[in-house]
Amino acid sequence: MFDDDFRYFHEVMCPPARTEAEVRSINDLIDEHRRGSVSVLDLGCGWGRLTNRLASPPYNFNVLGVDIQDAYLRSAKTDGPAEYVRQDIRHLDLERKFDVAINWNTGFSYYSDEVNESILRRAADHLVPGGLLLLDIIAYDYVVRYFREFMEVRRGDDVQTDRLSWDAPTSRLRQWRDISRDGRRSSFFFETRLYPASEMHGLLGRVGLTTTAVLDERGADYSRDSSRLVVVAVKRSRSA
Ligand SMILES: C[S@@+](CC[C@H](N)C(=O)[O-])C[C@H]1O[C@@H](n2cnc3c(N)ncnc32)[C@H](O)[C@@H]1O
Repeated sequence: MFDDDFRYFHEVMCPPARTEAEVRSINDLIDEHRRGSVSVLDLGCGWGRLTNRLASPPYNFNVLGVDIQDAYLRSAKTDGPAEYVRQDIRHLDLERKFDVAINWNTGFSYYSDEVNESILRRAADHLVPGGLLLLDIIAYDYVVRYFREFMEVRRGDDVQTDRLSWDAPTSRLRQWRDISRDGRRSSFFFETRLYPASEMHGLLGRVGLTTTAVLDERGADYSRDSSRLVVVAVKRSRSA
């Protein structure tokens, strides 16, 4: 699903002003929870939308972006100063540790529960003691409460439509996506595991991270009306 079509329609939903607001809030979270951080690992960095901004003035972090899609990484490298490496975050293995790791815009929960947990474990393994993991995912409560069976994104004459269902026993959002772009059509299925805040807290605890803040997309305390779940977690010195 992560191809040029994904980026093409995603750009409609993430205009530059939203990207700037997200980068500011990531910077504010780092400032509040681990001021003085220098190195940032962007897991599932895509085409470097946030990565290159975090590496640029006024933020100037030393940022490494990791993604599995070559085309995204090629574009990211030409767009800004961050460093990039192609790796599968399920098997992340870098010879460095970071002050901060981010996984933004629902970048990890496409796999089985065990694999999703192992992605977070590997992220935690790449943090220095006291390092921060910042996660931004679709809010479970919001999806359940305001469930929409149909969603559409338009860009000019092109259209992306999703038919959705919610699998309550497994907390998985199931999506059948149809794309019509430049007269070409494609269809595929994918699903995303959504985590209630309490479950995320338990999951992070199992991989050696202590949750220190549970927020929404505006930096306010998370509530059942929040459309995003933003979690700040700190790496414990010794795993519990
Ligand atoms: C929803 S996009 C978010 C991109 C970026 N964080 C942003 O906010 O613009 C999810 C990204 O995760 C990447 N991704 C998914 N599974 C991955 C994996 N196993 N290893 C590395 N990257 C992965 C995709 O290629 C895609 O770029």
